[in-house]
Amino acid sequence: MSSVIVVGTQWGDEGKGKVVDLLSESADFIVRFQGGNNAGHTLVVGDKKFILHLVPSGILHRNKTCCIGNGVVLDPGVLLGEIEKLRSHQVQVDPNNLVISGQAHVIMTYHREVDNARELRKGKGKIGTTGRGIGPCYEDKASRAGIRIHELVNPKLFTEKLKVNLEEKNFYLEKFLGAKPLDYDQIADEYLAYGEQLRPYVGNVSQLLEKARRQDKNILFEGAQGTHLDIDHGTYPFVTSSNAVAGGACCGAGVGPTHIDTVLGICKAYTTRVGGGPFPTELEDAIGMHLQQEGAEFGSTTGRPRRCGWLDMVVLRNAARLNGLTSLTITKLDVLTGLEDIRIATSYVHEASAMETFPFECYTLEKCDPSYESFPGWSEDISSARDFSDLPVKTQRYLRAIEELAEVPLSIVSVGPGRNQTILLKNPFEI
Ligand code: GDP
Ligand code: IMO
Ligand code: MG
Repeated sequence: MSSVIVVGTQWGDEGKGKVVDLLSESADFIVRFQGGNNAGHTLVVGDKKFILHLVPSGILHRNKTCCIGNGVVLDPGVLLGEIEKLRSHQVQVDPNNLVISGQAHVIMTYHREVDNARELRKGKGKIGTTGRGIGPCYEDKASRAGIRIHELVNPKLFTEKLKVNLEEKNFYLEKFLGAKPLDYDQIADEYLAYGEQLRPYVGNVSQLLEKARRQDKNILFEGAQGTHLDIDHGTYPFVTSSNAVAGGACCGAGVGPTHIDTVLGICKAYTTRVGGGPFPTELEDAIGMHLQQEGAEFGSTTGRPRRCGWLDMVVLRNAARLNGLTSLTITKLDVLTGLEDIRIATSYVHEASAMETFPFECYTLEKCDPSYESFPGWSEDISSARDFSDLPVKTQRYLRAIEELAEVPLSIVSVGPGRNQTILLKNPFEI
């Protein structure tokens, strides 16, 4: 029996979906614990590609239970659409293999409207959110005005809460944001229908996981976003609205920290970021373009081009501390193929002084310049490597340098988007 948390170490899109799909083979339960459909997790199996926003990335495997924990904010229309799409590809998704926590919060139409109207109003200073209503939904959760899944599936409770909430939201939308007010009947009809469809999926995820643990099952927690988008520890205010760090798995699924065995950090061999906010190693030159093109760095949720830059060890070490990483995966190593010189930022320079650690606020980070260490690149195609020894010596050296600088042992190397394009050094469930 083992419990493994998978987290992104950078600013999201590290390849968490691919790794969770891969590790689901060894897991019995796969659990999303925070975020919502701002996430876009890509799974490539054979010639099929799936982009999942809410359904856990274990869904392609038979005889597994996928769970959506209490920490998730759930847009019911998006979830039902995703379920339909998976079914059209002959993937089983039903209450036998998908359980939704009754305590998860519902993303309402007004959350999306507020998110978008606010971004519009902010203009240049916008966060660059995904526009999915994530922030406004978590706001309602914190202010205790949120509607939870167990209320969505109870028409009486739902309509009562909707009435009260909509009055306030319409006032805010109209009078402050200058947007159109929303119609009660339309929202009520739409969401009551969602409630009917989702009722069979609702359960108690925390209790289910406790039972699984007592039966010696393997549990895989699937993080969304990344450490530096975490509401507390990320580059605030250019962050998402949930705790994307490993600790979030305990709160967001209802499990105690003593029941976690391994925390696996997923790190791209370079860095990307979507939306606004500081990014010290960003490259706005031919190399940045190379990474964007070769890595197909376009958002899986919004299609926006991702900003690209060198690997940042200050960022990775920060993630190692915040998550208590015990194991490391490097993804998209193949994207670096063909570059003569590969760089890793090992520290920053801030106002003429060296800085080894990640500042806890944005104003300092904006003024940090990276100090780089250079590594010789390789030109061989590595996408069919399946064993560490299949990699060119220069590639092996680059990986070992990352492992040493991060002080976290490497367990998985990904050399292509496909499930099988992977070098497994150590199965995180067997650590
Ligand atoms: P996530 O949000 O962390 O799950 O990552 P995304 O799915 O948003 O973005 C990662 C992208 O890189 C997806 O298009 C994956 O199919 C792709 N990918 C994952 N691992 C690799 C890899 O090792 N090499 C290449 N070339 N692509 C990869
Ligand atoms: P996955 O799970 C990359 C970014 C948005 C924006 C900020 C806030 O695929 O790694 P939000 O809509 O959450 O209020 O937006 O966070 N963001 C992501 N960037 N990958 C993600 O998820 C992201 N989820 C949110 O671009 O900058
Ligand atoms: Mg993504």
